[in-house]
Amino acid sequence: MAGVSRIQYPANATPITVPCSGSISPMYILSAFNKGADGVLVSGCHLGDCHYIEGNYLARRKIQLVKELLEFVGVEPDRFRMSWVSAAEGAKYAEVIKDFVADLKPLGPQEKLKADRS
Ligand code: FES
Repeated sequence: MAGVSRIQYPANATPITVPCSGSISPMYILSAFNKGADGVLVSGCHLGDCHYIEGNYLARRKIQLVKELLEFVGVEPDRFRMSWVSAAEGAKYAEVIKDFVADLKPLGPQEKLKADRS
């Protein structure tokens, strides 16, 4: 809805659409950091509103695993966030992204996983 409504959000945010937050693999998130993302925000439908019934509950469990994995590899936990935003909440989606980008700025570029690749 944010795109259709032409609601502005930071241009350095790259949305990647998936059918359901439950389909997100922890490997997608680690791969994004490995490719140099400064932060990853996962957004899914509000709990109880998943079109696939329990996808967001599954996502919530995976997210906890991701947080532990990121801590294990030394990525600051503030570089990763989960937010429940429905597809109809364009303005809220834009605000969530703006807040996340603002919170990432003081952390600077994410170098840990990029450095481990070389
Ligand atoms: S469709 Fe499953 S979280 Fe949105």
